[in-house]
Amino acid sequence: MVEKNISNQNLRKIAIVSGKGGIGKTTLAINLGYLFNKKFNQDTVLVDGNLTTPHISTNLGMYNYNSTLNHILKDKAKPEEAVFEHPLGIKVLPASLETEDLKNVDIMRLPSKLNELKSNVLIDSAPGLGREGVAAISSADDILFVTQPFSNAVIDIYRAKKVAEKLNKNILGIVVNAKKDLKHELTNNEIEQLTEVPVIITIPYDVEIEKSLTAKLPLEAFNSRTKTNKNLNSLASKITGFELEEKGFFNKLKNFFRR
Ligand SMILES: Nc1ncnc2c1ncn2[C@@H]1O[C@H](COP(=O)(O)OP(=O)(O)OP(=O)(O)O)[C@@H](O)[C@H]1O
Ligand SMILES: [Mg+2]
Repeated sequence: MVEKNISNQNLRKIAIVSGKGGIGKTTLAINLGYLFNKKFNQDTVLVDGNLTTPHISTNLGMYNYNSTLNHILKDKAKPEEAVFEHPLGIKVLPASLETEDLKNVDIMRLPSKLNELKSNVLIDSAPGLGREGVAAISSADDILFVTQPFSNAVIDIYRAKKVAEKLNKNILGIVVNAKKDLKHELTNNEIEQLTEVPVIITIPYDVEIEKSLTAKLPLEAFNSRTKTNKNLNSLASKITGFELEEKGFFNKLKNFFRR
């Protein structure tokens, strides 16, 4: 599976951030959470940092848990007590689905609480630059921006980037999601010029993504043979620093003659 490690082994916290909502953050978080844990052997807790409209657990078909991020933020549970393992091996720290549990929660305690976890952390952020968005950025070492190729979403990335820079965060780059390769979409070049942030991968618009979410599975477990899944793997590889092994006889032959 994994060929060699070219990254350093320190624990990292990565926040998946967008200015605009509905852009694909949670979808990306679930897919990366799965790939990091299961394919790249990186012990990673997927944190639902979207307390007001949480979607991680419902998208994974997980509904029953006694402890949540809300409990942690209210000192009613310790961080590791609220980490649940999904049957596929994704480690999840869910937010409560009960609106009652929003009472007396101070999201600005997120950074110090997540520091107590002894794993890598991947935070699915709420959209925008409200308290939840800023708390997710503040909690992370690295910021991964997600946009779709339209001006409003891209302008919001520029604004989020300014906040991340002010907080001295490392910016990994932009994921351009749900691209249809239509003329009216912004090009990656235009997105880079507008935001002054590099585009690190493009994920196509793909109905298989919608189907995989309905099946409550990451794309790797639902239909691994799509170009979209290849791009998601390539993104996970870039972030973790692990190279993917090329499968198949001819790839093995190519690697053999490279020696
Ligand atoms: N590459 C894609 N191709 C097709 N559909 C996609 C793709 N990415 C996301 N979607 C669809 O877009 C919808 C919104 O995605 P998602 O919930 O991940 O966005 P979000 O940024 O987390 O939203 P919010 O800001 O509300 O938390 C999902 O229902 C999903 O089916
Ligand atoms: Mg979301």
